[in-house]
Amino acid sequence: MRLLAIETSCDETAAAVMSDNQLLSNTIATQEIHQLYGGVVPELASRAHVQRLVPIVKMALAQAQLSQNEIEAVAVTYGPGLMGSLLVGVSFAKGLALQLGVPLLGVNHMEGHLFSTNIKPEGPTPPFLSLIISGGHTILTYVRAWGEYQILGQTQDDAAGEAFDKAAKILGLPYPGGPAVEKLANRGNPQAITFPQARLKPNAVNQSFDFSFSGLKTAVLYYVRKLSVDELEKQRADIAASFQYALINALVENVARAHKVFSTDAVALAGGVACNKTLRQAFFQAGAQHGFQLHFPEPIFCTDNAAMIARAAQFHLANGKRSPLSLAPDPGLALK
Ligand code: KG4
Ligand code: ZN
Repeated sequence: MRLLAIETSCDETAAAVMSDNQLLSNTIATQEIHQLYGGVVPELASRAHVQRLVPIVKMALAQAQLSQNEIEAVAVTYGPGLMGSLLVGVSFAKGLALQLGVPLLGVNHMEGHLFSTNIKPEGPTPPFLSLIISGGHTILTYVRAWGEYQILGQTQDDAAGEAFDKAAKILGLPYPGGPAVEKLANRGNPQAITFPQARLKPNAVNQSFDFSFSGLKTAVLYYVRKLSVDELEKQRADIAASFQYALINALVENVARAHKVFSTDAVALAGGVACNKTLRQAFFQAGAQHGFQLHFPEPIFCTDNAAMIARAAQFHLANGKRSPLSLAPDPGLALK
């Protein structure tokens, strides 16, 4: 099936065309305006989607060398995400599906991230463990089969990417903070400072695989506050490296514990933070130690994109799933 997929859940305006499981095009416009504000401003994000979505869709069709009349289905992210941003994508997709007279399918953005390791054919086969680490989410999932997901752990406060962004702000680095912290950390000593690592105990409501990063962020803040301007300048790289080390360690430990329970052959990483090379190395080492194969998407498929939405949609469309034209955005949509 030739499919156009649209992703506008946050600050990336993206479109992709897929024919069966072959990706024909993948276009994306990143909204740089948010850098001025140190984080995503929802109102500006929706306005930018309105301006950019049509050109991005036209570009995706042109790169796929298809006219819009050759599209056989339209897929769109309908949650979770920012209400205004989702509304732009969902309304556009509904209008296009109506005009072309083709099926519409709403896709869960988090399920898209789960499929992001499988845009290329060499991805993992269920059952496997998947860790989605992005600016808004930190979710460890047992993928029993495609479409059958068990959430094992989530962050109780900041997401992993959010922690990177906040640590970057404390260190005077630009937004988004992850790439800047990683670059600075490459010059620092990860053992220089011991930052705390939350180890959450299981209780009646949460499982033992939950995450917490707000304590780590606060520890960085308190550490930096005690330093003079000169001391901070001298220690910035060490602080970045030690922060990154503590965060990565927390992720690896939780995944390794979950792997002991679920013994899957594969572990997949997804989301913007999975671009981090030090993190990938740490997971490769853990894989060698605990006996799992590591899968991660190439960077363009780690951050938000429409190719992963197309891949998830292909699976559901092939199984006969369709959405009504009354489809509405669901900003708090959970992964089920
Ligand atoms: O998946 P994504 O593009 O958007 C969300 O759905 O949130 O993830 C963005 C997040 C940001 O917090 C950014 O700082 C982080 O991913 N990130 C990184 C790296 N590249 C992006 N974090 C650590 N290291 C990186 N190299
Ligand atoms: Zn995302």
